[in-house]
Amino acid sequence: MSIDKSLFERIGGIEVIRKVHHIFYNKLFAHSWLKQYFVEHPQEIFENQQTDFMISIMGGPKRYAGLTPKAAHSNIVITDELFEIRSQILSESIKECGVADDIREEWLTADRSLKKAIVKTSAADCTTRRPDQRIYDIPKPQ
Ligand code: HEM
Repeated sequence: MSIDKSLFERIGGIEVIRKVHHIFYNKLFAHSWLKQYFVEHPQEIFENQQTDFMISIMGGPKRYAGLTPKAAHSNIVITDELFEIRSQILSESIKECGVADDIREEWLTADRSLKKAIVKTSAADCTTRRPDQRIYDIPKPQ
C-alpha cells in the first residue's frame, strides 16, 4: 500500500521552506513598495511566522499558533496589484532555491489560497485590532 506524500514532504521539508522564505523576505525587505509594510517586527519574525503557517497548510507538523491570515492583515490594504507583485517575488524565490516547477506551482497555489481572505479595495475594508494600531494604506512608489 502506498500513501501519497504531503506537499511539505515533496518540497523537502522545513529546511527548504526556511531557505525560500529567507530569500523571499530579503527581497521583500529590499522592495520599494513592499518593505513599507514590514516595519513592526524584525525580518526573522516574519520568516518564522510565514514558515510555520505554510508548513501547517502544506500537510506538515502543526507549528503555527498565530492569528488567522484574515485577522493578521485586517489593518492592511492589500490590493490585487500588491498581492500579485508579492506572488511573483515568491515564485522567483522558490525558483532560486532549485525547487522543481511543478512543486513551485503547488506552493504558489497554496499561498494564493489566502488571497480572498486578505485582498481589499480600500481602507474602508480595514479594521484595527488595537487602539494604537495603524492602517497601512500605502500608495505604489512612482
Ligand atoms: C502583499 C501581501 C501581504 C502583505 C503586505 C503582508 C504583510 C504582513 C504584515 C505587515 C504582517 C504583520 C501583522 C502584525 O503583526 O500586525 C503579516 C503577518 C502575517 N502574514 Fe502577511 N502579508 C501579505 C500576504 C500574506 C499571505 C499571502 C500569507 C499567507 C500565505 C501571509 C501570512 C502571514 C502570516 C502567517 C502572518 C503572521 C500572523 C500572526 O501570527 O500575527 N501574508 N503580513
